[in-house]
Amino acid sequence: MKYILIDADTGIDDSIAILFALKRKDVRVVGITTGFGNTNARQAADNSLRLIQLSGVDYEVPVAVGATGPLVGEWEGPVPHIHGHNGIGDAQIPASSQQPLEEAACDFIIRMAKEYEGKLTLVTLGRMTNLALALQKEPELPRLVKNVVFMGGTYHAPGNVTPVAEANIAGDPEAADQVLQAGFDITMVGLDVTQKVRLTAEHIEKLDKYAAPENRPIVDYLKQAMPLYFRFNRQQNNCLDHCPVHDPMAMLTVVDPALVTTRRMPARVECGGNFCRGMVVTDLREYPMDAQYLNICVDVDGRKAVEELLTTFMD
Ligand code: BDR
Ligand code: CA
Repeated sequence: MKYILIDADTGIDDSIAILFALKRKDVRVVGITTGFGNTNARQAADNSLRLIQLSGVDYEVPVAVGATGPLVGEWEGPVPHIHGHNGIGDAQIPASSQQPLEEAACDFIIRMAKEYEGKLTLVTLGRMTNLALALQKEPELPRLVKNVVFMGGTYHAPGNVTPVAEANIAGDPEAADQVLQAGFDITMVGLDVTQKVRLTAEHIEKLDKYAAPENRPIVDYLKQAMPLYFRFNRQQNNCLDHCPVHDPMAMLTVVDPALVTTRRMPARVECGGNFCRGMVVTDLREYPMDAQYLNICVDVDGRKAVEELLTTFMD
């Protein structure tokens, strides 16, 4: 069994990652923490609670609200043109009677790390602010958790918010650099792989046809949410009814590491600069700079990844 704590800015691709994890028999989601990004942290928590209920998962998944902005500077605000006004593509799914915890996300992360000492994988799908705050309170965190897998950054692929930076890292570079240098066993699932994995309108049709009966609410949700995401990708990236698979790819990497090829490289996050703020700077020199080594995903079996994602929702 894989014990996972998910930290998300619960938007459309986060929601697919969350539903996928909740549906896996080999995964136990010990909780979800939320932060700002695609939407605000409270809305992200509300979305997460709705998705937990929608999934029909048969155990309790606590949700804790986290950071409302980055460690340095101001949050630029949500992105309704990508993720809708509610963060989940303006899809209407039933509200949950479950409430978020009173406990702050960073405290919940520390508590779960201790409860599942040595067994917990932290999967971050948004800014790393909650994890950086947890580290500041509990510097032993890298020793307490098994590993960290994060969706974010890019090694060779172009950035998606600046020429060289990806949104989750650019949204809080200071937090990301603190986490990357803290001593975790850490894997970067960045744009080099997520851009190579494509979800298409045909895939949603296939799900509509073959989804297990108990997953009908999930398919109905995806049919509501995905058109907006496809439209953004069409307008922004010339994608005709397809989109990259960002956050679900991080979850897929956790459940099936053989899907990706990784390379160990020392890396830092650029926290200054006019053009490169938020860039993940890797050092391939023989005598590299003093930086922590990351497992950076450099390639992926995209067809297999999508099949594994979709079949999880099928009979
Ligand atoms: C990342 O940014 C967010 O918009 C997505 O949910 C994903 O986590 C992609 O750059
Ligand atoms: Ca995300």
